[in-house]
Amino acid sequence: MTTDVKTQIHQLIHEIRLHDYNYHVLDAPTIGDSQYDQLLRQLIVLETNFPEYLEPNSPTQRVGAKPELGFEEVTHRVPMLSLGNVFDADEFQQFVARVEDRLNTVDTTVLTAEPKLDGLALSIRYEYGELVMAATRGDGQTGENVTQNVRTIRSIPLTLKDESFPNVLEVRGEVVMKKLEFAAMNKRLQDLSEKTFVNPRNAAAGSLRQLDPKIVATRPLSFYAYGLGEISEPLGNTHSDVMDVLKAFGIPVNPGLVKATPDQIGRVYRELLAKRDQLPYEIDGMVVKVDDLDTQEILGFVARAPRFATAWKFPAQEASTRLIAIDFQVGRTGAVTPVARLEPIFLGGVTVSSATLHNFDEVARLDVRVGDQVMVRRAGDVIPQIVRVMTEHRDRHRDPIQLPTECPVCLSPIERADGEAIIRCSGGLICQAQRLEHLKHFVSRRAMDIDGVGERLLEILIGIDWVKNPADLYRLSAEALEGLDRMGKKSAQNVVQAIHSSKDTSFARFLYALGIRDVGEATARNLAQTYNDINQLMDAPLEELMEVEDVGPVVASHIRSFFEVERNREVIADLIALGVGWSLSKPYSGPNCADLSGQTWVLTGTLTTMTRDEASDKLRSLGAKVAGSVSAKTTVLVAGPGAGGKLDKAEAMGVEIIDEVGLMELLGCR
Ligand code: IVH
Repeated sequence: MTTDVKTQIHQLIHEIRLHDYNYHVLDAPTIGDSQYDQLLRQLIVLETNFPEYLEPNSPTQRVGAKPELGFEEVTHRVPMLSLGNVFDADEFQQFVARVEDRLNTVDTTVLTAEPKLDGLALSIRYEYGELVMAATRGDGQTGENVTQNVRTIRSIPLTLKDESFPNVLEVRGEVVMKKLEFAAMNKRLQDLSEKTFVNPRNAAAGSLRQLDPKIVATRPLSFYAYGLGEISEPLGNTHSDVMDVLKAFGIPVNPGLVKATPDQIGRVYRELLAKRDQLPYEIDGMVVKVDDLDTQEILGFVARAPRFATAWKFPAQEASTRLIAIDFQVGRTGAVTPVARLEPIFLGGVTVSSATLHNFDEVARLDVRVGDQVMVRRAGDVIPQIVRVMTEHRDRHRDPIQLPTECPVCLSPIERADGEAIIRCSGGLICQAQRLEHLKHFVSRRAMDIDGVGERLLEILIGIDWVKNPADLYRLSAEALEGLDRMGKKSAQNVVQAIHSSKDTSFARFLYALGIRDVGEATARNLAQTYNDINQLMDAPLEELMEVEDVGPVVASHIRSFFEVERNREVIADLIALGVGWSLSKPYSGPNCADLSGQTWVLTGTLTTMTRDEASDKLRSLGAKVAGSVSAKTTVLVAGPGAGGKLDKAEAMGVEIIDEVGLMELLGCR
């Protein structure tokens, strides 16, 4: 049994050393922080229970790893320590109990809570107010002299502001890169085809340990102080006072420090966690410290960490796991997206088993292959993403992911337009995957607005092949629907009624409902305003389409390709034959109808016989533009009861004003 423990300790030490090297020397961790902490904890537990196997060089006996070659070594006169961790309220309570036991107090200790910045620790030494040296933590005793690099960080003063500084002042804090600056920098590096960074912390670490200070100067680094190293005289009696003094010297200090009693800390933690995603920099927890410096001294240190402080960690946002497979999902417009299937892993409070890969450029950029160990990140509510592939851990040959040649759902050929990252299924309406998405869009509120036909029903109807395209919806009968799973007589009638009511629509809604790629509501409206007739639109040449507002060459070509597909024309003809129609082509194109082209109409106040949207659609179908406010361009204002400012303005400007009765007369031209 005991030999097992010995081997276990040995293996853990070996494993942790490897992770230390990856993290500290290569800046390329292969596991997440919490996974690392767990390994370390396992080792601590074993070593505490079996002290006879404690090895002098165990990672628990020192902090961090050896400095990378290239920078001069610096010995820290006051060692740079690490922090103990707690992960929940119980563990935090135990920390408080240990403090109170030692101090013989209960609930009276003033604590401070501040964000635990996720960057890298830095010690900056000022002598007589001048910055003379800056060093990384290294192993806590010996770090790297990065003075030249640190001098390039704009927020760090080279000379202190206040005259009352002590002769020797070592400031300790964290170098970070803000999230937005990180994203912008990575974009710049990507544009230059240079190596990008996985996360802001690695970017900060990688940048600070750049050998060329000129490059460092281009990296957007920030620094926030959270403590002191060697000092020639005290700066205050409490940690919070010391932070204020540092601020007065012109040194940026860790923002968000609050004072609290032990029983208030839980609330502070939850508040900070809730704010996490909105903060400009990444934080991985909250650091709690005893505020009074004399009390800190009484409490002292255990091993390499102070007894007076602890880090209450947040749930991890990154962890490594294995890629089991890559699936391909087909969307409404036929876009085929690769999705990574992962060995399930607990991350940021939920179990994650898949991650988005966006497109094939991303697959190629990551060089991800099935079986790889991958680093997964989940921030806030965002869909999990693969941020890095541990290619160096690929233990045997693995084949690169191949672009699929046929649609995984309908087996139609896959197309890739020149210069586009997205690949698409060419199956259009025959592809079952697109069918569901297509129909979901068709029935949606802002399209044909068929209330009562939801995703579940569509799935059933598609599954039994009753609905292959939008026109099939209008062929459904209540009797047939009644036989379906969980569909009563009443609901079947309601569904058919809802489908029936949708027939009276507007041209713009109809065009939008067709789901032509890149034709959103606004474009559909512009097209409807320009073309009086669907046949004109279906035959419109590219150059003509491009004259429509908002329609450029790409959208125009999507419209053309859509109408060039015979099947699509058939479905449209079918829909119209089944009674789908809009005011313009039927009631509003008669010889008695007014021609409002070139006119601008504005609607205000309440309408009783129709909604404002309906009125706008009808006016547009007669050629008018419908604007939101009265201006010199306004031709007519339609004012209903309750009209206010717009009416006053129109009167003042001498704009023609009509009421709803007048409007109905005009629209009643059928
Ligand atoms: S105090 C003697 N305060 O966390 C204790 N550390 O896990 C010194 N860190 O090496 C640390 N934010 O790099 C302290 N507000 C904060 C911090 C903070 C980030 C880092 C620091 C330290 C590590 C320990």
